[in-house]
Amino acid sequence: MAEYDKDKQAKEYYTDIPVNNYGFFLKGAHSLDWGMKNRLSRIFRPDTGKTVMFAIDHGYFQGPTTGLERPDVNIVPLMPHADAIMLTRGILRTTVPPSLTKAVVMRCSGGPSILKELSDEELAVDIEDAIRMNVACITLQVFIGGEYETRSIKNMTRLVDMGLRYGIPTMAVTAVGKDMVRDAKYFRLATRICAELGAQVVKTYYVEEDFDTIVASCPVPIVMAGGKKLPEKDALAMSYRAIQEGASGVDMGRNIFQSDYPLAMMKSVNRVVHEGLTPDEAFEYFNSIKGEG
Ligand code: 5RP
Repeated sequence: MAEYDKDKQAKEYYTDIPVNNYGFFLKGAHSLDWGMKNRLSRIFRPDTGKTVMFAIDHGYFQGPTTGLERPDVNIVPLMPHADAIMLTRGILRTTVPPSLTKAVVMRCSGGPSILKELSDEELAVDIEDAIRMNVACITLQVFIGGEYETRSIKNMTRLVDMGLRYGIPTMAVTAVGKDMVRDAKYFRLATRICAELGAQVVKTYYVEEDFDTIVASCPVPIVMAGGKKLPEKDALAMSYRAIQEGASGVDMGRNIFQSDYPLAMMKSVNRVVHEGLTPDEAFEYFNSIKGEG
């Protein structure tokens, strides 16, 4: 739907016109180098163009988040069912078997805990260490509108520059402060700034209204953030809508690992993302495999 600014000029997002990817399967990636395209192809399945990323990086500012107290026990067994895992180098090295061949999306920012102003972050990983761990992507939180917005942008552009040097894509995670409005207008601003300043992938929250305009106005793939735990059917419905409205995948944590049936939830999300199961179909499937865990 066209949106009117104060000067009455309509914005037009052409949500019905597909983007020209110039022969590569992923949006905005055709001009990247071979290594970066290859890494992106390990995250996003070339046959569907989509990803199910499993977010377990919460401990980097929250400590032992509910469900992540002992990732070796309940999280590692879920990893083979995701396309990519998003986590810190600490958990990767200590807890994840190196025989796992899933794409690693490495959290590279850190600083304040939940007790402080979260936007006050710094880069927290050297690119050499990311290379050593064979990561497919590097990632950080970007606080558009946050108290430390400029530092956050600087962190992102430094990470993008380091990634470009070695063919490693950067995923910018649009952070939402407690006083920020979560609407399409805000996320269009945040996602576009991240892409304009070089991020090759952007993670953002789903909004009920005009999510397709966020996707349309961002020239790189959008991955939907999971957010706080919802009833399983609602989380499946949110994933379905995001994918139908143009998202290139989901990056989901609590809605999987805080479910009473995390394996069933992971497999159901996977079918929504890659096979287009409707919320009803996916929930029926979820109920049918709950016995697996
Ligand atoms: C915030 C993050 C988190 O660290 C985490 O990845 C969130 O996952 P979820 O909200 O699905 O539990 O990146 O944006």
